[in-house]
Amino acid sequence: MAAFVLALAIHLIASVIWVGGMFFAHMVLRPSVMDMAPPERLALWSKVLPRFFAWVWASIAALLVTGYGVLFLGYRGGIGGGGLHIDIMQATGLIMVANFIYLYFGPFGGFKTLLAAGDIKGAAAAQGRIRQIVTINLVLGLITLAVGGTGTLWAY
Ligand code: HEM
Repeated sequence: MAAFVLALAIHLIASVIWVGGMFFAHMVLRPSVMDMAPPERLALWSKVLPRFFAWVWASIAALLVTGYGVLFLGYRGGIGGGGLHIDIMQATGLIMVANFIYLYFGPFGGFKTLLAAGDIKGAAAAQGRIRQIVTINLVLGLITLAVGGTGTLWAY
């Protein structure tokens, strides 16, 4: 019981770090730096993104370990017996993870290489693709939070 409480507390904190971070980046930081000159703006993102993405990797690891961990340990019926909200959370959660892996090794890799080579136009385009994927993951993340957080009220 205490292990489930601890695991789900970590699960919840990790989801808030990931989704809250995307909300801040997309809704607060992005509009605040939009009128900066591209070289300065992209230099700022080149410092912000690696730091945030390190937290996203940690959050993903924590979410998967704690989420599947409690289910394999038999929490509320275990891996085959959970409520519908857990199925939805897994589906949207795994899509978010796949999107992030693509973003990290695809557009983010390109962004770093292009910026280091001084290709501001190319780096700006890569940053635009990162933004699109973060937007999709932000919407999915808000849905996942709402479903995961309220499921206990409607799925059992
Ligand atoms: C992908 C694999 C995931 C699995 C296997 C999983 C599993 C679980 C389980 C078993 C619970 C407890 C539900 C209950 O008490 O009825 C839970 C709760 C929750 N999950 Fe997930 N989850 C996953 C991903 C995510 C993601 C990606 C997010 C958000 C970004 C998320 C957010 C939440 C929230 C907000 C709760 C409610 C708080 C809590 O009980 O700790 N989960 N999850």
